[in-house]
Amino acid sequence: MRETQAQTVQVSPLSDDLAFLDIVTAWDLETPYHDWRVSIVVPDTFRPNPRMPRVITVANQKGGAGKTLTAFELAMGLVARGLRVRLIDADPQSAALTAWLIACFPEGKRWTLTDVLMERCSLADATYPTPYIGLHMVVSAPDLGEVENSHKKPPGVESLIQHHLSSEKDFDVTVIDSGPSLGLPTVASLVAAHDVIIPVQAASGLDVKGAASLMQTVKQVKTRLNPELRIAATILTDFDKSSLARTIGAKMTKAFPGALVVPARRSVRVGEAQLAMKPLRLFAPGTSTTLDYDLAAALLIGATVPAQRAAR
Ligand SMILES: Nc1ncnc2c1ncn2[C@@H]1O[C@H](COP(=O)(O)OP(=O)(O)O)[C@@H](O)[C@H]1O
Ligand SMILES: [Mg+2]
Repeated sequence: MRETQAQTVQVSPLSDDLAFLDIVTAWDLETPYHDWRVSIVVPDTFRPNPRMPRVITVANQKGGAGKTLTAFELAMGLVARGLRVRLIDADPQSAALTAWLIACFPEGKRWTLTDVLMERCSLADATYPTPYIGLHMVVSAPDLGEVENSHKKPPGVESLIQHHLSSEKDFDVTVIDSGPSLGLPTVASLVAAHDVIIPVQAASGLDVKGAASLMQTVKQVKTRLNPELRIAATILTDFDKSSLARTIGAKMTKAFPGALVVPARRSVRVGEAQLAMKPLRLFAPGTSTTLDYDLAAALLIGATVPAQRAAR
């Protein structure tokens, strides 16, 4: 881990007075639209995992599903709980996390995830501070997608991130934002993970299909390379309470029993925050979307949720 530049922005907990979502064990689809309250599903079989250090990979092979927003806001929610968090950008696309979240590089060589996978440096060498106290990151590069076909790639490259993480103790949680293909960077991210989080656009049947094919890959990785892997949550991004969104939520509950189903409500502030290159959580702290990610972060690690929510 590099400590070359000061981190200056403190990420504080959100106020308990804000309007967080209710927590339920299942959605009632019979309730008419006007009476139905948006809520987070925490099934009876869901188990939070407070064990640290842990690795959470955000994946869906469909682009535009909300992976990057989910990875970033979950990471910020964990930082606000006092955890030391590292974000890894495993998406070679330039419009991803690396463009949004500015790492503080020292003078000289800048290592990227490509260098880690090509064994030119360690994961710690490629981990840089960000402006946010408690948050570090590993950046992506356009050549990340080329590692897969490189004749120089090291043997067992799909286990390299896991290998580095298993010998490091600098971070409580590592959150990996994966790209839209099921290629090598995504497989390496799944091999390294304890938890998978699957975002789907609440109004997109295609994202649900992307989730289904991801499921096959998760099963294969679990059987062959990482028996600990589990699907911990699905996030219904850009959620708007339409009947389609409710139906997709119900499908996800059925497809991934034991996983949280978290609506991350639609807000125009998301695009505004991206334009301002700021985390949504700091750009608009009371925004419904931020509250939804904050609650999801708490539920995933078994942190205390404020009494007003737990009492409902
Ligand atoms: N809750 C939300 N409210 C408004 N826009 C959203 C919300 N969630 C996601 N989006 C928009 O969806 C688009 C895709 O999100 P992104 O995180 O980049 O997806 P991916 O990483 O899967 O390609 C972005 O333009 C983002 O602004
Ligand atoms: Mg992305």
